[in-house]
Amino acid sequence: MRRLLVTGGAGFIGSNFVHYVLEHTDDQVTVLDKLTYAGDRRSLDGLPRERVRLVHGDICDADLVGSLFDAHDAVVHYAAESHNDNSLSGPAPFVQTNLVGTFTLLEAARRTGVRFHHISTDEVYGDLEFDDPERFTESTPYNPSSPYSSTKAGSDLLVRAWVRSFGVQATISNCSNNYGPRQHVEKFIPRQITNIIDGVRPRLYGDGLNVRDWIHADDHSSAVLRILDAGRIGETYLIGADGEKTNRQVVEMILVGMGRDADAYDLVTDRPGHDKRYAIDWSKLRDELGWQPQFADFASGIGATIDWYVANEQWWRPQKAETERKYAEVGQ
Ligand code: NAD
Ligand code: TYD
Repeated sequence: MRRLLVTGGAGFIGSNFVHYVLEHTDDQVTVLDKLTYAGDRRSLDGLPRERVRLVHGDICDADLVGSLFDAHDAVVHYAAESHNDNSLSGPAPFVQTNLVGTFTLLEAARRTGVRFHHISTDEVYGDLEFDDPERFTESTPYNPSSPYSSTKAGSDLLVRAWVRSFGVQATISNCSNNYGPRQHVEKFIPRQITNIIDGVRPRLYGDGLNVRDWIHADDHSSAVLRILDAGRIGETYLIGADGEKTNRQVVEMILVGMGRDADAYDLVTDRPGHDKRYAIDWSKLRDELGWQPQFADFASGIGATIDWYVANEQWWRPQKAETERKYAEVGQ
């Protein structure tokens, strides 16, 4: 039994990780979460209270972070400002949470020697051309495009430096785009599903031909647990599941899955600096740690995600109007 501290565990991927850990291990979990607009304590509903507790606080609070590190065996760090569109309209919290917050955690890891796993994104590598035969690997040079991805890139570099200079016991993973239950309605897949529920046509940025490499959140969780258990200190592991799709392909699948015409979407103003394509080579994780994704069938994973949003309107409804108001301001 391990005492695990999960930052950002009331957010999308963090809460899916906590559910996964509770189901697949004997670990005790403490969630440290600021409960920003993107965090929701209801995402931890239904979990056994004797095994999981929520601490409402900020990863930039050094005293709180220090006392929590003293009481735990390992930390998995998901907390972040995570949405590219928000980082374009207001980058300040991205610098604060993603950079200063990660720095605060690393200083606690340095003092206590606690095992630390840093969650990051493939977006630190910038983007690929549509016809590029290469995919991102652990040695692709960093080339972030947005305030979001640049602050994540900076946080990765802090982790690497704290490992090398101070011997912090850390690993890093960079994962592709996640889908699954409990994702905020600002993100692409939940936005389109909930728009369709509301009778609004899905909105694709630009020509809708940008490519994302989709992975189910549970596959991300199983990979993170594997790295936590068996990853080599100081190493970076890319996590993906061969899920490359254009945004049009994804939205057509959602529309058909919800009984609408496949072309019932609109093209809207493009995102400034919109990355063209992401694609992950995850062979290091496979060859070194023997990890494999379990959700091979994207269509059925999307079907289950649609079912979740249809069944859990009370979870996402309070966020929907405000999210759409912000998009309307920028013509999206
Ligand atoms: P999210 O926005 O859904 O959740 C972020 C969580 O962090 C929220 O619960 C929020 O309340 C919390 N948080 C924000 N600032 C905080 C602070 N200062 N102190 C404590 N808690 C704070 O994000 P997500 O999509 O679940 O992403 C989680 C992590 O995974 C991020 O680090 C992100 O960069 C990374 N990631 C995301 C994806 C993706 O597809 N969403 C892909 C790869 C990596
Ligand atoms: P998003 O979920 O914001 O993730 P990221 O920017 O981290 O990849 O967007 C996924 C893709 O979908 C991206 O190419 C932008 C696009 N997109 C739309 O076309 N329409 C939308 O309404 C949103 C939110 C995103």
